[in-house]
Amino acid sequence: MARLSFLAALVSLSVSYVAAAPQGPGGGGNAGFVPLVDKKFTWDKLPYRIDTDVGLPRGEQVGYNQCNATTEGPTSLCQTSFINSLDDFCLWAPPSPGKTVGEIEGEMIAWCTQPGHGTRVIPDGALTGVQFVKSPDYVQVVGFIDQTKINMVAGDAGGEMDPHGADLRGNPMGGIIFSNAFTGTYVQVVEWHNFMGGNQFCLKACDPRGANDAKFCQHIYDTQGCGFNAPSNARDTVFESCASDDQPFPGEGVAVPASSLCSTFASTDIYGPTGTVQVPIPGASTISFSPIPKPTKSTSTTAAPTSTASTSGSSSGASTPSATGSNAAQLGIAPSFAVSALAAIFGITLYV
Ligand SMILES: *[C@@H]1O[C@H](CO)[C@@H](O)[C@H](O)[C@H]1NC(C)=O
Repeated sequence: MARLSFLAALVSLSVSYVAAAPQGPGGGGNAGFVPLVDKKFTWDKLPYRIDTDVGLPRGEQVGYNQCNATTEGPTSLCQTSFINSLDDFCLWAPPSPGKTVGEIEGEMIAWCTQPGHGTRVIPDGALTGVQFVKSPDYVQVVGFIDQTKINMVAGDAGGEMDPHGADLRGNPMGGIIFSNAFTGTYVQVVEWHNFMGGNQFCLKACDPRGANDAKFCQHIYDTQGCGFNAPSNARDTVFESCASDDQPFPGEGVAVPASSLCSTFASTDIYGPTGTVQVPIPGASTISFSPIPKPTKSTSTTAAPTSTASTSGSSSGASTPSATGSNAAQLGIAPSFAVSALAAIFGITLYV
């Protein structure tokens, strides 16, 4: 009850914020403004920056979308992200340490499991358990991570990124995601949500060809965490790739959908210098599919995985994933998550 009325208040606050924002649609102050979710690109024809707005309250996009061998590594500010498979996906995380997700959600950059995308690379050992699923309407990764290894504050219960935001510029501003898991070639994921915090993460990328992509990747329950928005049976210490039924739309019930065709892997076989295994897309045999090779250390264009390795890249030589925590069957909603996210909302910004 309290939550419902609070959410209602939050929604109305957000709505009035958007209406008042000069850059908002109908705001009248900036007729040329285009919401991030309405900007469509092919992966090989990205502008330097997707968000070209200047003079708005949140400032300019901090990074860039043309990412290549030059930008790859520990100083990358690449904001072009991918979710392809268990072995090849990226998460949004801060460019530098010291700020909580709520404080820096607009400036998150791409951290990927593999070199080859012109981004930072998630250090070896940071991921301690990941489940990738492909359902009829989306692909999703849910897992466990030592978040301090990707510049997140220890103990930060986190928050949510999505291509909307109160000012419609997205969080991160100018952030874009592609996937080859739907068709075998890169397509822009229009609707997605990514929760980071409490040493857990979930990233759901909805198939843009689906009629309900905005509903499966609903962005308004941003204080509710992975258990509510992306229910799964991901387990710490387990790395698996499965086909899955669809979840209910977030907000219309929480249920872990049935999964099938699961295959499990050792993290050292899929990530880091020894990770040469390219995990097939579960159920890919049922779609028209020309697999794109696993990316390697160097690319000459935005996203093209190539077969040539160079010395760029940033993997640390950290130890193998440790078996931390319990064998929790599901990622629940940490009560502190909501508290922190709410604090972030009131302290910093309204993010829907
Ligand atoms: C690599 O990306 C950077 C940043 O977007 C860009 O300035 C540069 O021109 C790119 N280099 C090539 C060779 O495409």
